[in-house]
Amino acid sequence: MCQYSSVDGVASDWHMVHLGSRAVGGVGLIMAECTAVSREGRISQGCAGLWDQKHADGLKPIVDFLHNYGAVAGIQISHSGRKGSAATALNGGSHLDADDPDGWDTVGPTSEAFDPDGTRLWKTPHALSITEIETIQEQFVNSAKLAANVGYDLLEVHCAHGYLLHSFLTPLVNKRDDSYGGNLKNQARFLLETVEKVRNVWPENRVLSVRLSVHDFVEGGLTLEDTAQVGLWLKERGVDILDCSGGGAVPAARGAIGNRTAEQPDMAGELKASTGMPVMAVGDITDAQKAEELVATSKADIVLLGREMMRDPHWALKAAKTLGVDTRHILAEQYGFFVG
Ligand SMILES: Cc1cc2nc3c(=O)[nH]c(=O)nc-3n(C[C@H](O)[C@H](O)[C@H](O)COP(=O)(O)O)c2cc1C
Repeated sequence: MCQYSSVDGVASDWHMVHLGSRAVGGVGLIMAECTAVSREGRISQGCAGLWDQKHADGLKPIVDFLHNYGAVAGIQISHSGRKGSAATALNGGSHLDADDPDGWDTVGPTSEAFDPDGTRLWKTPHALSITEIETIQEQFVNSAKLAANVGYDLLEVHCAHGYLLHSFLTPLVNKRDDSYGGNLKNQARFLLETVEKVRNVWPENRVLSVRLSVHDFVEGGLTLEDTAQVGLWLKERGVDILDCSGGGAVPAARGAIGNRTAEQPDMAGELKASTGMPVMAVGDITDAQKAEELVATSKADIVLLGREMMRDPHWALKAAKTLGVDTRHILAEQYGFFVG
């Protein structure tokens, strides 16, 4: 969950408390917010980054803390593409004026802005050349290496919500006529090549995940069938699990949260059934029974909570109690001694 609390991409005390309190709250897997592979890959100037050793140094104590309190540590690496150079959500989320000193030039599959007719200002991106695509792929590789050294257990490549890799994958945005556009295989090329390169440097015994917008929620966009095909290609390239989100490619498709978010867990189940791949389900999961049911009925292998976990860092402990699980082994000893 983006926190807009980094300075030049470097994590702050906020991240230690924000992520650390979920470890104390008994969460199994804690995934750090989307973390940019370059300065221009950030969504806003407050977003997290992992392109330099200084970022790794900032993240290491947090990962050590998560491990000390029994959590698995994950990080999502990303490039914002044409949805970058934004003011932080805390400052209204509107895009920065092209001449704002805090802004930067954005990139995409074509030079079409996210919402050219909208009232909000979105920058007109520059269409990436093939050499530039290769440079960004190397930036993903660099971030993956840094994440491995920091000690993350799970690495997730962000290909959802209209950010760079998703903007190439979806026909709603990708109108290229070179080898990176024109049909699903070409649209997936940027993602597949990136994943292949990342897998080569990401340790074999650690988990590689890809977050997908399983459905674009707009006529003419990616469907579950398309995503299942992409899932199979990702599987061939050594991806271990698919994280199933939705939407975000174009303004008509509300982003990570929207009126169809609650449908996503069922879609995760369908993707698992059609690809045979493990999946993570996310979207309006707020109660323990629902989370348990998703796993017990094999719709999902992992359930993810976004907003509900922000409301309640101890959600996992409470869910364990609700489901009759002995929480003594989950509670930090400082708390468990008294609470049990
Ligand atoms: C404040 C906020 C920040 C988010 N940041 C990210 C992010 O960094 N990466 C990502 O893939 N999704 C992000 N999302 C989407 C969530 O991960 C999640 O998919 C969405 O909120 C739906 O799950 P929920 O109903 O449990 O909140 C964000 C959503 C919100 C509301």
